[in-house]
Amino acid sequence: MNALEIALEMARNASATLMPWRESLDYYQDWESYGKGVYKTHVEQLAPFGFDINGKDVLEVGPGSSLWTAYLCRKRGAKSSVAIDTRRFLIKGNSPEDALSLVTYLSPCNVEDTELPPNSFDLIYSHAVLEHVREPKLVLSEIRRLLRPGGYISHQIDTRNHLDFSRPNEHLAIPEWVWKLMTSNRSSYTNRYTVPMWVELFRASGFDLLTVRETESLQHPDRPDGGLLIQARKPAPESG
Ligand SMILES: C[S@@+](CC[C@H](N)C(=O)[O-])C[C@H]1O[C@@H](n2cnc3c(N)ncnc32)[C@H](O)[C@@H]1O
Repeated sequence: MNALEIALEMARNASATLMPWRESLDYYQDWESYGKGVYKTHVEQLAPFGFDINGKDVLEVGPGSSLWTAYLCRKRGAKSSVAIDTRRFLIKGNSPEDALSLVTYLSPCNVEDTELPPNSFDLIYSHAVLEHVREPKLVLSEIRRLLRPGGYISHQIDTRNHLDFSRPNEHLAIPEWVWKLMTSNRSSYTNRYTVPMWVELFRASGFDLLTVRETESLQHPDRPDGGLLIQARKPAPESG
């Protein structure tokens, strides 16, 4: 990025700091299809590893403007479906009408300090969220605490440059303090963990990895579906 582009992003960050309420996450037309796609990625694609949604307690981190996926979890057999978000980004019309009667939605609520009891969930998933957290290590340790032994996680992490998806890696060259001045109060803020850094962190946080797959970064440059899909389990204690 050149100096002018960087200065422009700093100005946008300053205005986001002054007017945070102007941000909206309404980037799709068809939220039902999107929610079904996210459900397929995080629930159906765990079936070969033995996961069955029936009777399970499920947590979605960062649903953004739509509860479609969390709703589908309930509709397809989950005992409970909880969705937490730092900010109440829900937009009327982006979820089924009865979503809030089937999904427990908690906001403001940060995944790093939910105050939910330990060993509460059988599945914890997120889509295009973990790249935005400020403290990845703390977040994974909290996710592990909330997960039951033997429970599953599934996370899609968009590691691309959120300021310009067509230049997916350019943000990595910018010094941290400059990056913060450009993005700290915007949804384009990302922690800039790369795919290998995430894989190492999941391992070091005590998860047994099941799927580690890089997702396409250029096929849909305007959508949050580039980066990494990682699925794993919290080890269950040995029986007997
Ligand atoms: C890019 S949006 C993705 C929204 C949705 N999952 C989707 O695919 O459209 C990231 C979401 O994660 C939420 N988020 C970011 N950091 C979070 C945190 N520490 N705890 C809970 N939610 C968080 C944001 O508020 C936002 O709703």
